[in-house]
Parts: sequence; C-alpha cells; structure tokens
Amino acid sequence: MPKTALITGITGQDGSYLAEVLLEQGYDVWGMVRRASTESYERIEHLRDRVRFVQGDLLDQPSLTSALLQAGPDEVYGLAAQSFVPTSWSQPVLTAEFTAVGVTRLLEAIRQVNPAIRFYQASSSEMFGKVRETPQNELTPFHPRSPYGVAKAYGHYISVNYRESYGMFCCSGILFNHESPRRGLEFVTRKVSDGVARIKLGMTDTLTLGNLDARRDWGYAADYVRAMWLMLQADTADDYVVATGVTHSVQELVETAFGYVGLDWRDHVRTDPALIRPAEVDLLVGDASKAHGELGWEATVDFTGLVQMMVDADLERLS
Ligand code: NAP
Ligand code: GDD
Repeated sequence: MPKTALITGITGQDGSYLAEVLLEQGYDVWGMVRRASTESYERIEHLRDRVRFVQGDLLDQPSLTSALLQAGPDEVYGLAAQSFVPTSWSQPVLTAEFTAVGVTRLLEAIRQVNPAIRFYQASSSEMFGKVRETPQNELTPFHPRSPYGVAKAYGHYISVNYRESYGMFCCSGILFNHESPRRGLEFVTRKVSDGVARIKLGMTDTLTLGNLDARRDWGYAADYVRAMWLMLQADTADDYVVATGVTHSVQELVETAFGYVGLDWRDHVRTDPALIRPAEVDLLVGDASKAHGELGWEATVDFTGLVQMMVDADLERLS
C-alpha cells in the first residue's frame, strides 16, 4: 500500500524537490496550493500530472482541515511560509500569521483529523540569529534577529510542544540555507547567479548588493529535502540540524560566481546601504553530526559545485 504525503508550500523551492523525492519513493503526493489570479506552478510544471492538488491557505483553518480530509495523508510536510527575511520587517504581522501561527493551525487540523499523521516542521537556522556558539547544533540556544526568525522559533517550539503534549510524531528540521537553480530570485545566491549570467551575456553591467561580510552555511536544496523525508521515517520523532558544516561570506560567494565565468567581481558589484538589514545574522555554520549519525544523511554538493550549478542554469535560461 503506497504512503500518502501532503506538502504545504509545494510551489516553492523545497516543495518542488521534495515532491520529486516522494514520487521516486512511490508515494501518492498531494500539494496544498493557494488560490491566485495567476498560477505559480513554474517549479512543479514537470510534475503536474503526477501530483494532486488541494486548495488551502495557512490563514484559513477550515481549508487546512479540508485539505487533510481530502488527501488523507500519512505524512504532512509543513513547508509553506513567508520565507524572505527582509519582508518580515515590512510585513511583520503577516509573517507571524503565516510562519508562526500558521504552524499551530496546521497542527490543530492534524490533531483533529488524524493525530497519527507524521509532521515535518520547516525550521530554520535563522532561529540562532546572534549566535551563542559556533558551530550551531540542536542544543544551541536561539537568539533570532528578525521577525521571520522569531516566527520560526515559535513554529519550532509549538511543534515540540505538540509532540510532548499529545505524543504526536512532529519533527523539526533546523535547516541551514539551501539553494538551487529553483531558488527565488530575491535570495542572495540566486540574485548573484542571475546577475553574473546577465553581466556575462551583456544584458547589464552592475549587480547591487547589501552586506558582503555576512557568512552563511550554504547547501544544495535537493540534498536537504532528503533529510526531511528521513526524519519522518525514523522510529521516534526528534529535531535535527541539517547543514554542510562549512561557512562562506557573501563576498566569497560573489568572487566564486564571477570568477567561474572569468570576470572580476570588483568591476561589477556595488553596495547599497538600503539593502542592509535592521539587524543582521553575521555568521551561521551548522553541526549536522546528529543527522549524519542517526539518519545517515550526507550532503552531496559543496559550495563551489552549488555556485557553478546555479550560474550554469542561469546562463542557459537567459541565453
Ligand atoms: P519558498 O520558495 O519561499 O516557498 C514558500 C512556499 O510557501 C510557496 O509554495 C508559497 O506559495 C507557500 N506559501 C506562502 N504563504 C502561504 C500561505 N499563507 N498559505 C499557503 N501557502 C503559502 O520557500 P523554500 O525556500 O522552499 O522554503 C521552504 C520552507 O523552509 C519555508 O518554510 C522556509 O521558511 C523554510 N526554510 C527555508 C530555508 C532555505 O534556505 N530555503 C532554510 C530553512 C528553512 P506561493 O507559491 O503561492 O507563494
Ligand atoms: N537577499 C539578499 N539580497 N541578501 C543579501 C544581499 C542582497 O542583495 N546582499 C547581501 N545579502 C546578505 C544578507 O544580508 C544575508 O546576510 C545573506 O546575504 C543571506 O541572505 P538571503 O539569501 O536573503 O537568506 P537569509 O539567510 O536571510 O535567509 C534564508 O535562509 C534562512 C536559513 O538560515 C531564507 O531562505 C530563510 O527562509 C531561511 O530560513
């Protein structure tokens, strides 16, 4: 009997890769989508005839209950969120409604429809914020530095609480930044790969960025969604850091991407104070020993390989 999974946020970067992994595993895959005047199915166009869709929104409790009743899942992957950190300062209340309280709405719907459903919560290294130790692991205290980070800390703890209060199988994956050619264009890796491709092809000459000193632990999204699936196959529900263990600055990202196509970044990159955040997360680097040891998870793509893959994909798309 094939298992059934429901993915919220299936139209996003991670949802698209996770759907591929679950289909490969023989799952019946359902995706929850928001109603929009223009569909945002670009990342899952190639999967459209293999996935079933149900409408729902994190703001609307009855739609979540209906989605669960319709799909009848064994596993729910809660990926939907307002996921862009700068927007969380301009829309802090909406970010809290989607990214924090939205998790409680989904958990309550699961508890009422079928508390045996296994649940994955898309937690974030942004919760570590102004880091208390380096590298960060599952026991590192949180100190979020944005309304997004605060909302994710809520989502993490409400998932832990539903596990501890009701015995529900809730896993919180504390994922560090993960990227791909399907990454949204506003996130820094994709902004850089897209900008480098445009400059290389003579479509523009300049790329304007914010803080070049911030450091991130960047991995490949297709690797990270495998960790989500592995968490829900474990004997007991738990929380896991997923990361490469290697950190690079935004400047190193820029050097690597421009250098790959034979350009000097100093000739093209400008900085704009308007892109500096009200509070910054200066350094993230994760210790994924628990995921390695207990789940057998490993990353397969390193930083240079990731940057080159993204630049190649944008060059091909724009050519
Ligand atoms: P993404 O590309 O921004 O996708 C977000 C998804 O959420 C989209 O499918 C979006 O639908 C959906 N969504 C937003 N608001 C919704 C609402 N009110 N109701 C229903 N659906 C809604 O994000 P991602 O990079 O795939 O990340 C997936 C999850 O992991 C997010 O929760 C993110 O915060 C978290 N996370 C990401 C990273 C990372 O580095 N990528 C790291 C740690 C944690 P539309 O297409 O309709 O907008
Ligand atoms: N977006 C962006 N645009 N970031 C820039 C820019 C720019 O022009 N210039 C410098 N940066 C810096 C930011 O200040 C930040 O320190 C770093 O690049 C990464 O920014 P993003 O790519 O926007 O990602 P993020 O780290 O804020 O958040 C992502 O990772 C989190 C996990 O730690 C998102 O995917 C979150 O949803 C995720 O939870």
